[in-house]
Amino acid sequence: MKIGIIGAGNVGTGIGKHLAAKGHQIFLSFSKTPEALEKARNIVGGGALSGSVEQAIAFGDVVILATPWGVTIETVRSVGDGLSGKVLWDTTNPLKPDMSGLQIGTDTSGGEKVAKAAPGALVVKAIAPFAEVLHSPSTIIAGTKPGVFVCGDHTNARKTIVQLVNDLDAEGVNAGPLSLARYTEPLGMLSVQLAYMNGFGARIGSALIRDMPV
Ligand SMILES: NC(=O)c1ccc[n+]([C@@H]2O[C@H](COP(=O)([O-])OP(=O)(O)OC[C@H]3O[C@@H](n4cnc5c(N)ncnc54)[C@H](OP(=O)(O)O)[C@@H]3O)[C@@H](O)[C@H]2O)c1
Repeated sequence: MKIGIIGAGNVGTGIGKHLAAKGHQIFLSFSKTPEALEKARNIVGGGALSGSVEQAIAFGDVVILATPWGVTIETVRSVGDGLSGKVLWDTTNPLKPDMSGLQIGTDTSGGEKVAKAAPGALVVKAIAPFAEVLHSPSTIIAGTKPGVFVCGDHTNARKTIVQLVNDLDAEGVNAGPLSLARYTEPLGMLSVQLAYMNGFGARIGSALIRDMPV
């Protein structure tokens, strides 16, 4: 699959690296300097391309949004209706800049704000495992794949992202509508708190346990 990525930092390169290794074609965009973008392209490997946000969107069957929350909405708005009809995988978490809490929730969510900023895009919210997990030799933590809760209002787009999450060697959980991002974003915040403030370290994750696959 052709994947455009907006945000070539820890998460953008971490996801890009796994997906490139699984044979997906990657186009990276959105760094502050060309040097940073080139470095990101080398981290991803697999013949990844790079260029402007508009080029990444035009390239991708799926576009991944991996930007700091503070620049996310303006970045999405800057492309006008360019995202219309695209599957947009929102990996962002609306953290306060000092990571002390969430900027919004739980009567709405970052995912829903992104969907409002990109009318026509098929927005799917799925917060990836920690970048430290994506960039370590194995994503498996204590014998278990980290779970990623996948939320979106378009069934086929949601299924596509579940498959891409599985290609990270994580477990995509087909959770339901985009409004469930109101609860997955606080779960992400809990992980941030445990990892960085409470001393658990960043090789942690959440997983859904169940008797039967759904
Ligand atoms: N890190 C994690 O473990 C993790 C886990 C789950 C979710 N998330 C969420 O994923 C998102 C991305 O996190 P991250 O850790 O990948 O962030 P990051 O490493 O800081 O990467 C952000 C990317 O956006 C670019 N960027 C930022 N401001 C820009 C601007 N004004 N103009 C152009 N480019 C700009 C950065 O470019 P430069 O490199 O040039 O600065 C970088 O490529 C965040 O919303 C975060 O909450 C992160």
